[in-house]
Amino acid sequence: MALTLPAHPDPLADRIHDSGLLHELAHGLRGPFHYLLPERFDANLAAFRAALADAGVEGRVHYAKKANKASVYVERCAAAGAGVDVASLGELRDALGHGVRGEDLVVTGPAKSPELLLVAARQGALIAVDALDELERLPGLGGDRPVRVLLRRYPQDQPRSRFGLDDAQLHEALRRCAAAGDAVRMEGFSFHLSGYAIQPRADLAGELVELCLKARASGLRADRISIGGGFPVDYVAADAWDTFLAGQGPGHYHGEKAFAAGDFYPYHSPVAGADALRAILAASPGGSGPSLAERLRRAGVLLLLEPGRALLDRAGSSVFPVQGVKDRAGYGIVTVDGTSLSLSEQWFNSEYLPDPVLLRDRSQGTAGDEPTDRPYPACVGGASCLDSDLLTWRKIAFPARPRVGDLLVYPNTAGYQMDSNESPFHELPLPPKVVVDHHGDRPRWHLDR
Ligand SMILES: Cc1ncc(COP(=O)(O)O)c(C=O)c1O
Repeated sequence: MALTLPAHPDPLADRIHDSGLLHELAHGLRGPFHYLLPERFDANLAAFRAALADAGVEGRVHYAKKANKASVYVERCAAAGAGVDVASLGELRDALGHGVRGEDLVVTGPAKSPELLLVAARQGALIAVDALDELERLPGLGGDRPVRVLLRRYPQDQPRSRFGLDDAQLHEALRRCAAAGDAVRMEGFSFHLSGYAIQPRADLAGELVELCLKARASGLRADRISIGGGFPVDYVAADAWDTFLAGQGPGHYHGEKAFAAGDFYPYHSPVAGADALRAILAASPGGSGPSLAERLRRAGVLLLLEPGRALLDRAGSSVFPVQGVKDRAGYGIVTVDGTSLSLSEQWFNSEYLPDPVLLRDRSQGTAGDEPTDRPYPACVGGASCLDSDLLTWRKIAFPARPRVGDLLVYPNTAGYQMDSNESPFHELPLPPKVVVDHHGDRPRWHLDR
């Protein structure tokens, strides 16, 4: 029996799927593409801001641009006065080029390139310093203005993390910041944790508030902390997810491939997105005493956030035309135009689990759509010559046997899935990105770049 994992119902996506627009685009673009819904990004951003306001916390949202290369989301940040978290010179240029002000940028990542540090300093961006040698390179880079820095904290609870400064390094960094005088403006501390747990974020944030108070005693500004990203996204319903985790095994996948349940992204999260921020703010660091929100207020510390995936929740999907279908004993192999590199999960020995939606090509008539037509389990392969190029190893329970010309829509892929691993392998063109909005009731579109 195939296990199903349908994405949460999405009436806006259904309207677009029913409108015929996606087949028209597949015809015009001659291949796979992604569609983007910036109105969803706006709504997610507004929800994060509302969570800060409701908790009485002064804060700023910086969209983690690494989660998607599209420009439209950065344009939305510029329009809304939100910040952007950039981790490369390319991301920084793109953000500036789409109207985000330098002072609204946070620059993260390990050992940043000299070019990135120079432009960041010149533009007045806030640089999250990851190592002492990076700090050494900063004085003077800002010309006649101080270089703005956060000191990134090594998370002791995640000893395998390669990021951040440990206790001794932090102590030394604070000394050097104080000694740098006007050349460096130490504005506070930062972290980014792997995983999605609430309490460890509240705990470490509480520690950073204390560190700010201590740093101020040495004359440093220390008036803000960044708690990074890692706000989970809830893709599928709890019961489907629980059934899947309890039941999945090699028999559910092409080639009897085995996946460890722990290697999957947690596709169901009871507390997700801006609600996760609400929970972090309401939690007491260390498990007792005032909430994080209260501690931030009392200490006059500004809270910076760097959500990527959560700002992109339901803000885009990926569309692959069916190029062929063949039968194997008990299931089928659907081959699509495109590759698994446009549905990045293979970095994590994992796969993208929300079910793709089959959109029939109506120009072929409705034969094969009869209610008696039996569900057709099939995995989904890419159009490359690699045996391992599967978008979905799992045997998906398609409602009918897909046909050439049908479309598979992988829902909710804007956060990391659609382009972080993309490659023009085989000289296949990269899937373009199409921005969809609505003109009255009618969906309309333009290319992202
Ligand atoms: C420093 C930093 N900030 C923010 C993020 C964004 O995380 P997410 O997309 O899970 O919110 C990341 C992701 O790796 C990161 O490394």
